[in-house]
Amino acid sequence: MIKIQKLVKKMGNKMILRNLDLEVKNGETIAVLGPNGAGKSTLLKVIATLYKPTSGKVMIHGIDLNENLNKIREKTGYLPHASLLYEHFSPLENLEFFGKLYGVKDLEKRSKELIKQVGLAFFMNEPVKGFSRGMIQRVAIARAIIHNPLLLLLDEPHTGLDQKAVGILNDVVETNKQKGMTTLMVTHDFKQAATLCDRAIIIQRGIVSDDFPIEVRTEEWLLNKYNEKVGGEN
Ligand SMILES: Nc1ncnc2c1ncn2[C@@H]1O[C@H](COP(=O)(O)OP(=O)(O)O)[C@@H](O)[C@H]1O
Ligand SMILES: [Mg+2]
Repeated sequence: MIKIQKLVKKMGNKMILRNLDLEVKNGETIAVLGPNGAGKSTLLKVIATLYKPTSGKVMIHGIDLNENLNKIREKTGYLPHASLLYEHFSPLENLEFFGKLYGVKDLEKRSKELIKQVGLAFFMNEPVKGFSRGMIQRVAIARAIIHNPLLLLLDEPHTGLDQKAVGILNDVVETNKQKGMTTLMVTHDFKQAATLCDRAIIIQRGIVSDDFPIEVRTEEWLLNKYNEKVGGEN
């Protein structure tokens, strides 16, 4: 699904990713952990094809990042910190807009189904403008998966969500996991990471410093594992 070899990303003269290697198999759900500024969001942006690598080899869905960005984008969903939604548009209008960009078939039906799945049926035609953070994030999740991606990239998706929204987000990840979707989730939320993910990687100073299966699905276990590696760095 993902094969990254010696990925380097420089911004100006600052080296953010330094010869990073990573392999991800189909259907894996991976927690991407690490201190602030380690390069987690940068890595996700490279995989989402938004940042061009400075050097190194990146294969996604068996396609070289230097070859065909559109083919990669068709199969990839990305949920960044910012929602990317049009705030004057309703959830339905937003989903139809993004769905059209991806050429989604039966778009109105698919959009309405997703809006119901994220619990916003009553707000389908209301402008997103007045929505709470939790509601906006639910529409943003629906937007990220409108085109049924095989790979989903989530950047701190649980931040600022209420319990209901957390449950809905987790349901979406679990349901799609059962359908074979691969997920990479940057997070500081160890409880959600331990609940949802099968494997964790730790990014420190632009490389993968640790990579292990989540053997015990508790926040405590994962936090201990993390602290062993990362220690006081935060
Ligand atoms: N557009 C940018 N230009 C310059 N430096 C950046 C840019 N984006 C991120 N950085 C720097 O790259 C480093 C890694 O950032 P980021 O990938 O956002 O880290 P993380 O998500 O792990 O907190 C940080 O030191 C940050 O300041
Ligand atoms: Mg980040």
